[in-house]
Amino acid sequence: MTRRAAILGTGSALPKRRVPNAELAAQVDTSDEWIVERTGIRFRYIAGEDETTASLATDAARVALAAAGLEPRDIDLIVLATATPDQTFPSSATKVQAALGIPDCVAFDVAAVCSGFLYAVSVAESMIRARSAETALVIGAETFSRILDWEDRATCVLFGDGAGAIVLGAEESDRGVLATRLHADGSHNELLYVDGGPSTTGTVGKLRMKGREVFRHAVVNLAAVMNEALDAAGLTPAEVDWVVPHQANARILDATAKKLGLPPEKVVVTVDQHANTSAASVPLALDTAVRDGRIKAGDVVVLEAMGGGFTWGASVLRF
Ligand code: UT7
Repeated sequence: MTRRAAILGTGSALPKRRVPNAELAAQVDTSDEWIVERTGIRFRYIAGEDETTASLATDAARVALAAAGLEPRDIDLIVLATATPDQTFPSSATKVQAALGIPDCVAFDVAAVCSGFLYAVSVAESMIRARSAETALVIGAETFSRILDWEDRATCVLFGDGAGAIVLGAEESDRGVLATRLHADGSHNELLYVDGGPSTTGTVGKLRMKGREVFRHAVVNLAAVMNEALDAAGLTPAEVDWVVPHQANARILDATAKKLGLPPEKVVVTVDQHANTSAASVPLALDTAVRDGRIKAGDVVVLEAMGGGFTWGASVLRF
């Protein structure tokens, strides 16, 4: 048996306020028809003043801990993926640690934007396999509504807020993370970025995106990295039970599945309900499909994501 990081529990949390397309159409020059046809998005959740990346992350972590049957004190590692932390520092992971009342553990954030959760899973899984950790909380949490230009119809309709979490635990077993492949290509900064930061403008900045170009790269890169991760796990696309993709655009999900020859029924889609929640979207979709009974013990699941950087990655696991 091999030492692996198995998923012991999943959880998620959404802000209280759900915003339908029609509400945005009253603010910017857009329509429910355009948004649904081009993206598949119908709703997104927007954080209120009392809701932050760390508070949503903490709520999601509590649900994942309950699903795993564990207490906060059982956690010795927190890796939180976000591009919208509560503060520039300290990390939102340490805020989650404090909120959960964990007196001592390793806690840090990773920044890989929409691929952040894949990067976080890879780091936590590697630390577990290296015996630097036994039980980890891996969280993707975002409040992208705070960095949107609410006058730019080409971006503000696409994103939402939320958090998803998993508990990874060391096990000598054949379930757990089987293989992960990550990539980055920093030459595409100008296609998807935030026009501010502590070291440049001294401001938080707003999200800017050339959507059509990002779309083109996404389909090519995602299909390639999924094949790479499946190869590394010694599996074929035909052996995949579920794909849990980053939820940016329903058309990207369709095109990527088609490239791999996967039927659309095997793809978990939540973009209609949550919109693009960046690092939160994969764990939010995973939790949705675990809770509604689609993903079951023993299933082969592929997680995949692509985002700003560019960064992209895929992870193959046996649930
Ligand atoms: O999470 C990180 C990864 N991000 C992504 O994967 C996003 C990838 N990109 C996309 O999902 C799509 O490219 C978008 C949804 C962003 C845009 O869809 P598109 O089919 O590529 O549209 P487009 O940008 O080519 O724009 C088509 C038209 C334009 O008008 P003209 O120039 O043809 O007259 C836009 O101005 O649609 C217009 N448009 C809108 N119209 C109504 C752009 N946004 C809107 C809007 N409502 N919200």
